[in-house]
Amino acid sequence: MAPEKLNVLIIGSGGREHALASKVAMSPRLGQLFCMPGNAGTASIAKNLDVDPSDQNAVIAAAKANQIDFTIVGPEAPLCAGIVDRFNDEGLCIFGPTKAAARLEGDKAFAKKIMTQALVPTAEARIFDKLERAKEYIATRDTPQVVKAAGLAAGKGVIVCDEPYQALLAVEDIMGKGQFGDAGQTVVVEERLKGPEISVLALIDDRTIYVLETAQDYKRLGDNDEGPNTGGMGAISPSPHATDSLLDQVQHEIIIPTLDGLRREGCVYRGVLYVGLMLTAGGPKVLEFNCRFGDPETQVVIPRLKSDLLELLYACANGKLEDASIDWDDRTAVCVVMASGGYPGNYSTGKSIEGLNTDVRDDVFVFHAGTKSHVAGTRTAGGRVLGVTALGESAAAAREKAYQSVGKIRFDGATYRTDIAANM
Ligand code: AMP
Ligand code: GLY
Repeated sequence: MAPEKLNVLIIGSGGREHALASKVAMSPRLGQLFCMPGNAGTASIAKNLDVDPSDQNAVIAAAKANQIDFTIVGPEAPLCAGIVDRFNDEGLCIFGPTKAAARLEGDKAFAKKIMTQALVPTAEARIFDKLERAKEYIATRDTPQVVKAAGLAAGKGVIVCDEPYQALLAVEDIMGKGQFGDAGQTVVVEERLKGPEISVLALIDDRTIYVLETAQDYKRLGDNDEGPNTGGMGAISPSPHATDSLLDQVQHEIIIPTLDGLRREGCVYRGVLYVGLMLTAGGPKVLEFNCRFGDPETQVVIPRLKSDLLELLYACANGKLEDASIDWDDRTAVCVVMASGGYPGNYSTGKSIEGLNTDVRDDVFVFHAGTKSHVAGTRTAGGRVLGVTALGESAAAAREKAYQSVGKIRFDGATYRTDIAANM
C-alpha cells in the first residue's frame, strides 16, 4: 500500500529543481520535502541535504535516514550513473530512467543508432572512434557539419560548424586533444540542420505517453542568438511553433519508434523524455534526447501545470500514468535567466543579491539556481543564478512582467538577455 503522505527528495540544485520543488510543495499528498543539495531557494520550502548526488552510497543512506518515500532526479549525471537502478535494488521508489535507458542522453552514438534503426527523423550522421577515420569522412563533406562528443560533457560537447573545414578542427580538439575528456573518445559527425528549435517533454511509463506542454529555449548568451552556447538563458512556453499536428507527429514518428527501439535493446523507459527538435524544411528532426526535465524549460512548463505534480510523477514511477490526468493553464510563461558576469566562461561568486522579495505576486516566480544562503542574505553561487518566470495572457504580457521583476533584482555583474520572447 502506498503511504498516504509521501516524504519526497528532489536531487539537484538548479532552477529546474527549485521549480519542481515549488510545485511538489503545493501537493496535499506531500509529507516532508527534501532537496539534495538544493540552493537558497529550495531551502525556503524544503530541507536541503548536504550530500553529493554522485555519491550513490551517501544518497541511499540519506534517503533511508530521512524516511524518503519518493525521489525525483533532476540532472542527467546521477541517472546516467545508475542511481535509479540502485534505488530499485534497495526497494526505494524513484522517478527517472534506468542507466540502460538513460543512454539515450548519456551516449549520443547509442541514441543515433536507435534512431537510425527505428527510422526516426534526425540529422544524417556517422559515428567514429578513430580520429583518422573521422577526418577522412569530414574531408568528403562539402556542407557544414556538427561534431558531438558522444558522452556527457555538461551540455558543452557540441560544436556547430559554419564551414566544412571547421569540423576537422573540432574532431582534432575533441579526439586528438581530449577537449571533453573521455566523453569525446567517440564522436558523432552530423549534417548541420536549419530551422527553429522546440523542446518537447513527455512523461513515459511502460504503457502510457503523456506529451507535456512545449517550450522554446534560448541557448545563446547574447541577444539575437549571438555569442556562445549556454545551459539556456531563457524560455517560453508554449513554443510559438507548437501545433497539435506537430505534437502528434512527434509522438508517432519519434517517441513511439524510439521507445520500441529501446525495448528491442531490452530496456523500458520510465520517467520524462526530453526531445530536442529542429523544425526543418523537411519536417521535425531530432537534435538530441535528454533523459530528464530540461532547464530552463521546466521553469516555464511547470508553472503552467494545474495538476498535482507529485501525484503525476509518483504515478509515472509506479507504472500508473494511464490513471492520471493533466490540466494546463492556457497562459503563456516566459522565463528570463539572470547569470553571473562572465558566464559561460569564468565568473566569480559570493555576490550579494538584492531585491529578491520586492515583487511577491502569484503570477511571478523567482526560481533560484546558483544561490546560497548566507547570514547576511542570499549570495550568488553559480553561473546561472536565477530564473525569473512570469505568466501572462500573451507572450508580450508575460515578457513585460518577467522583465519588470528582473529589473528589481540586483547583483554585481548580473547579465541577462533582453530579447526573451520578443517579437513573437
Ligand atoms: P545538443 O546538445 O545535441 O542538443 O546540441 C546543442 C545545440 O547545438 C542544439 O540545441 C542546437 O542549437 C545545436 N545543434 C545540435 N545538433 C545540430 C544539428 N545537427 N544542426 C544544427 N544545430 C545543431
Ligand atoms: N535547456 C536544455 C537542456 O536542458 O538540456
